[in-house]
Amino acid sequence: MKIYLIVGARPNLIKAAPLWKELKTRPWCETALVHTGQHYDAALSDDIIRQLGLPDPDHHLAVGSGSHAEQTAKIMTRFEDLCLKDRPNLAIVVGDVNSTLACALTAAKLCIPVAHLEAGLRSGDRSMPEEINRLVTDRLADIMWTPSPDADENLLAEGIPQSRITRVGNIMIDSLVQITPLLDSVRLDLPDGVTAGEYGLVTLHRPVNVDDADSFAVVCEALIGAARFAPLVFPVHPRTQGVLDRSGMADRMAAGRITLTKPLPYAEFMKLQRGARFVITDSGGVQEETTYLGIPCLTLRDTTERPVTLTEGTNELSAPAALSGHVEAIVQGHWKKGRTPDLWDGDTAKRVADDLERRKSSF
Ligand code: UD1
Repeated sequence: MKIYLIVGARPNLIKAAPLWKELKTRPWCETALVHTGQHYDAALSDDIIRQLGLPDPDHHLAVGSGSHAEQTAKIMTRFEDLCLKDRPNLAIVVGDVNSTLACALTAAKLCIPVAHLEAGLRSGDRSMPEEINRLVTDRLADIMWTPSPDADENLLAEGIPQSRITRVGNIMIDSLVQITPLLDSVRLDLPDGVTAGEYGLVTLHRPVNVDDADSFAVVCEALIGAARFAPLVFPVHPRTQGVLDRSGMADRMAAGRITLTKPLPYAEFMKLQRGARFVITDSGGVQEETTYLGIPCLTLRDTTERPVTLTEGTNELSAPAALSGHVEAIVQGHWKKGRTPDLWDGDTAKRVADDLERRKSSF
């Protein structure tokens, strides 16, 4: 059984790595890693591939950046060429990025079965490109592997038969469990005056927060307000760097106890996150990682597709205006403790491979 495991953007690599390693131990399948090239900077791609023990991709489509339509179309064209030359029996797509949607659509049209890892998450907000990617990918997928009960419920409510759905848990936690023993030996220099356990980590890259200079300025002012209670360390995503350069906010933030850094590879980033007193983010994966680590998380969004991080974990949604009040509460020790959701245990890749083994006679 020839399987394509498809990655494109940073979070895909973190989710695909444990599954790639697990499938390599199963004699009934042969797995090839396909990288679309949506992310190409070293810190967003090659460094993570190396740190997670992934091989160089078997196929690299080198699509690069572009508008949503350009990028999606380019991935589809190049992935179609590949599938026509070297047809797999199954395409596994992960997460909710443009590469996920583009490869699911291409494979489905070629009648290649599609499996979606991290299926069923819904924010209910169709202004997010990821929500469109999730909805369409799940309509097309033959197998849906979900991380939490809300995801199963969303799929069933959309009319997807139970037989296609298997709850496997959170694959991102597999990578976190695997990297944890290595973190002590990872070198990470904290900025001057910043002490482990006493700083806030910031990550922002969602279009709603960083594409418009006015909205970004509101967020930056909120961060400056929050930094009165604890210094902040802010690794800047390439998408965010553009608006930072245009807005002139970098100097104001530096003067307000906020250290801006380049994007960090996975291990360094996890070490920085593990050492944080709290996290301010708009990332999906970071909401999950903080819940697992038991670190207070403030999500600068109106909605989340990961509600279990609110109901069981340490996460709260926050408007920019409420941010410094929340940070003050956290540094004073007033925050919920949270618990680890079921099946966020480091064994998700095994459950995915077992499920595939059960289903493999149908491919
Ligand atoms: C993408 C995903 C998002 C995910 C994020 C994780 C979509 C729609 N969005 O967002 O869900 O949370 O990855 O990082 O798929 N750029 C670089 N170097 C790179 C890649 C991008 O400089 O290696 C810059 C380019 O200017 C590019 C911009 O970042 O236009 C945005 O990149 P893109 O892949 O379109 O989306 P992300 O914002 O990274």
